[in-house]
Amino acid sequence: MEILDSDILILGTGIAGFTSALHASEASGKLRISMISKLHAMRSHSVAAEGGISGVLYPGTDSKEIHAYDTVKGSDYLADQDAVELLAENAPSEIKFFDHIGVPWNRGDGGKIQQRPFGGMSSPRTAFAADKTGFFMMRALYDEALSRENIGIFHEHFATKLLIINGKSIGAFAFDIATGEEKIFRAKACIIATGGASRTFGFTTTSYSTTGDGTAMAYREGIPLKNMEFVQFHPTGLVPSGILITEAARGEGAYLINAKGERFMADYAKSKMELAPRDIVSRAIITEINKGNGLKEEDSGMEHVLLDLRHLDKNVINVKLPMVKELTMKMLDLDPSKEPIPVRPVAHFTMGGIHTDINGRILMADGKPLAGAWAIGEAGCVSVHGANRLGSNSLSQCSVWGRLAGKAAADYALHYNGNIADERSMMDVASAESARISSMLSSKGTKTPYDIRERLCAEMDKNMYVFRTSEGMAAAEKAVLGLMREFKDIYIEDKGSVYNTNLRDAFETENLLTLAYAIIVSAKPRLESRGAHAMVEYPKRDDSNWLKHTLVYRQGEGYAISYIPVKITRWKPEERRY
Ligand code: FUM
Repeated sequence: MEILDSDILILGTGIAGFTSALHASEASGKLRISMISKLHAMRSHSVAAEGGISGVLYPGTDSKEIHAYDTVKGSDYLADQDAVELLAENAPSEIKFFDHIGVPWNRGDGGKIQQRPFGGMSSPRTAFAADKTGFFMMRALYDEALSRENIGIFHEHFATKLLIINGKSIGAFAFDIATGEEKIFRAKACIIATGGASRTFGFTTTSYSTTGDGTAMAYREGIPLKNMEFVQFHPTGLVPSGILITEAARGEGAYLINAKGERFMADYAKSKMELAPRDIVSRAIITEINKGNGLKEEDSGMEHVLLDLRHLDKNVINVKLPMVKELTMKMLDLDPSKEPIPVRPVAHFTMGGIHTDINGRILMADGKPLAGAWAIGEAGCVSVHGANRLGSNSLSQCSVWGRLAGKAAADYALHYNGNIADERSMMDVASAESARISSMLSSKGTKTPYDIRERLCAEMDKNMYVFRTSEGMAAAEKAVLGLMREFKDIYIEDKGSVYNTNLRDAFETENLLTLAYAIIVSAKPRLESRGAHAMVEYPKRDDSNWLKHTLVYRQGEGYAISYIPVKITRWKPEERRY
């Protein structure tokens, strides 16, 4: 088995991963940095980010303090406020960093970077490059990374196991999808930036690859996952595909209307209307549908409401929202300046993730850091979004913590003394993982991972969606446990080693099962409604019992749950009104 040595290993090549790589590389040209992606790096899901990145560029009516307050309020007071202040403080310089590496921000008079409003914001503070912001940020990062001699990118390598020896992270085990070759990526420091897990749901904005692989690997190693019950449902998924119709459309003035043509948000968030935070807008849409005020898509039978852009200036659509038009024309042959767009809430983002401290360092259940390990972007949970993220805060999060973790990992690697790990122990762990892959490949089971994945997603769509009930969650738990048992009886059709996508897909399904289960068991005990976790039987937030973060971690064959306090610095929890 080949051993590839580097100083820093980065799992994932999205915006968080690349940002951390660049800042680590800047810390010292001597550091060797390896990045692993299961895709070609430029296909990482960050390319799909549309509406923009938040940060106060022009203080005046807006300020960093207001940015922080909006974020805390938007989070339904579950965000750690010290982390939120860090985000607001650093986001503007990150936008400027991206300006310097070539992101073509939309600009207004005098060349000023334009900013538009997103949900829950007191002022327009989302910088954007049309509605293809993620693509442009990724392109700039990728170009920049290619120019650095000390960054190596391993495309199409699938990591299946974190290597943790004697309580220290020392890299990861992966196979090369193109050849089947198994490799050990040994490193002094490891940053997990493998993205979120919205593909636990079937109706989702995210690419097929958004399977939370790093988060699932961490869970298997006994690392706690934090706040997994909080899955964000974006209000405007295109019906019936689930493709994202950016919140920027509402930021630019689009309306939500029901079957009667009413702007129903007046009944749910009178002052913010369509620009209330996502959890509120999503619940409003489903409530309208439940009241019989929705419409039905003919082929899929999907109930929905309409997003109306007809009153917008054509120039706004062409310059600031070109992809909305491209998508609706391509998918539905619908011109949004002539017809409203059918939309409904769609799984979009996992607020939860690998438990970290404010610097992105991975923490174990006893609160101690795992030496040499960081988790950032959607894979990590700082927690800066709490129970509900505000739109466009994720790209700032990726950039702020990408920089912090990149620099910290570089510092750690530069001051590292001694051997990375006892070679024999490392080989034992890697050989056991290799044997696991072989037995998966040769298993003569009867179930296909594809069928299991499909049923998993259907279950999550049915019982873990915008409104949850105790009965529904219990049913979801039972179903997922059943699917996990079935997974032990799978077969992999392709027995070869070259581009064995069946094998890769089986691992993805295993990861989705792990994370769906973590979502359900974290959600079940939380008997309140907070942010994206809305329980029908407990419609109110309950700060006296539930103002706390959930940790779920593996314990033997089962799991354990514990809770840790939320960090409150300046803003006492109060009722959210919009
Ligand atoms: O609607 C959007 O453009 C999504 C942005 C985000 O999730 O931050």
